[in-house]
Amino acid sequence: MKFPCRLDKFVSHVSELPRSKVKIGIKKGLAVVNGDKINKADHTVQQDDLVEWEGSQLVYLGKRYYMLNKPTGYVCANQDDLHPTVFELLDEPNLKDFHVAGRLDLDTTGLVLITNDGDWSHQITSPKKQKYKTYLVETQEALTEEALEQLRRGVALHNEKNLTQPAIAEQLDKYSLRLSICEGKYHQVKRMLAAVGNKVVELHRENVAGIELDAQLAVGEYRLLSEDEVNIINAR
Ligand code: URA
Repeated sequence: MKFPCRLDKFVSHVSELPRSKVKIGIKKGLAVVNGDKINKADHTVQQDDLVEWEGSQLVYLGKRYYMLNKPTGYVCANQDDLHPTVFELLDEPNLKDFHVAGRLDLDTTGLVLITNDGDWSHQITSPKKQKYKTYLVETQEALTEEALEQLRRGVALHNEKNLTQPAIAEQLDKYSLRLSICEGKYHQVKRMLAAVGNKVVELHRENVAGIELDAQLAVGEYRLLSEDEVNIINAR
């Protein structure tokens, strides 16, 4: 939410009441701003105003940043008709304005960043910012040095004009590698492995732009980012 904003918008956002109900309530005198009863829905609210609704203070929680250890079977979207969404794993108020900063596929696990700060997430997702994302990749076929070299140099993806940008590919064993890429094309890692004649059987994200998935988080758990973690993105 951006300040200044309309009173009805503020109340609806923080209380999670429908805007239509809030408008009626404001007319009835349920809203008090800095001690004054306000009857106008379009009254301007500043970030440091004290807003009460039916006698209780409404507190805007501000910008928030979470990391989630995503399980398989959850979709990185605000709503989905078929599958549960990652937002269903977050037991937090006012998640309406939140979005995922860099989606993972339904069957991919690991680090998902969720925020209501669009400027911050733009730093992560904009191709121009070249932020690296690191994945653990399990493959169906044994990896070859030639395939790893191709991944490092850049490969041609189906339906893409340009080669992928140089990647960091470190073989972990016969069927697994750690791959860092600075792009975020649709199904990119799966398509990169397909381009070298292999197939991804498991995919897990460990790191986004220097923010590491907390090893203490069990699958499906989440936590707030620390200030230092948030600033990793602002600082670059
Ligand atoms: N690349 C993929 O193919 N899938 C993901 O979920 C993330 C990167």
